[in-house]
Amino acid sequence: MTVRLACDAAGIRTAVEALRNEQIVAVPTETVYGLAGRADSNVAVQRIYEAKGRPPHNPLIVHVTSLHWAAKLGHFSPKALELAGRYWPGPLTLVVPLVLNSGLADAVTAGLDTVALRMPDHAVIRSLLNQLRHPLAAPSANSSGSISPTTASHALRSLRDRIPFIVDGGSCATGLESTILAVIDDQVRLLRPGVIDLGLELEQTTAIEAPGQLLRHYAPRKPLRLDARDSRNDEFLIGFGSMPCDYNLSPRAVLTEAAARLFAAMHEADESNRPRIAVAPVPKVGAGLAINDRLARAAQATSTLR
Ligand code: TXA
Ligand code: MG
Repeated sequence: MTVRLACDAAGIRTAVEALRNEQIVAVPTETVYGLAGRADSNVAVQRIYEAKGRPPHNPLIVHVTSLHWAAKLGHFSPKALELAGRYWPGPLTLVVPLVLNSGLADAVTAGLDTVALRMPDHAVIRSLLNQLRHPLAAPSANSSGSISPTTASHALRSLRDRIPFIVDGGSCATGLESTILAVIDDQVRLLRPGVIDLGLELEQTTAIEAPGQLLRHYAPRKPLRLDARDSRNDEFLIGFGSMPCDYNLSPRAVLTEAAARLFAAMHEADESNRPRIAVAPVPKVGAGLAINDRLARAAQATSTLR
């Protein structure tokens, strides 16, 4: 049985104790719920991969609360420092060269010579980090390949009893996973779009540099049709802007609101009694770029189900 902890002092204390003892704990962040474990512990990191059923070649993001901490794990070029200074804490992950003898468990970086680092902007994971005093590896708290969780219930539905604890911190404000940028020297490449949009084109790579780019990702269990203007009778319609539908991402057509509600909409569509999902067009600007990225992957991944 997974124990659901409140995000009060007692809940945080229990979570810190569990993490210290190399257990894994699902925790809220401002983007999505993460499945956290000590990034310096092979045992904890192995537990994360096992609970998610995550392929071992897909590395994890390491979470910290200070740049000082981050710089012990990764090499920050002036460009990387500038980006961290501008967007941290917040929904931005920086992939930078790994420091030799960083102390991170090998599986965290899946043998790459780079490390993905993020300073989250959420009181719960920040107090866990500050009390624990170890960096936390945390992928999204869902079984590998399925939709990321933006509530504790989503995470529990996906991971069932495969995790001992979850801290319930309500809904995640941002709702989409962080933007991932690779920053080597002064070169910046976009590996995963998110709500922080620097106007970069998504890197088209065949290598598994960011397996977030893998097709079977963010996938509901049902076929999903894009750019739907209305629903066919067996579809659950996810709308955008003023329109009749089963779940409206944002009746006033606000993209950041739609981003925050996208995964909740997909979870609800998956749980509904309709066998198919349709999604209305969402403008491809700002946060809409990240929304369309997730939708395209979900539609691709489910195309074989049609
Ligand atoms: O918002 C987020 O980023 C959430 C919260 C919990 O922080 N985490 C998250 O983790 O989305 P995850 O594991 O679902 O996605 C991490 C992505 C994966 O696509 C992984 O391949 C990529 O980051 N990644 C990790 N380390 C990398 C590296 N060294 N180089 C390239 N990509 C890396
Ligand atoms: Mg994920």
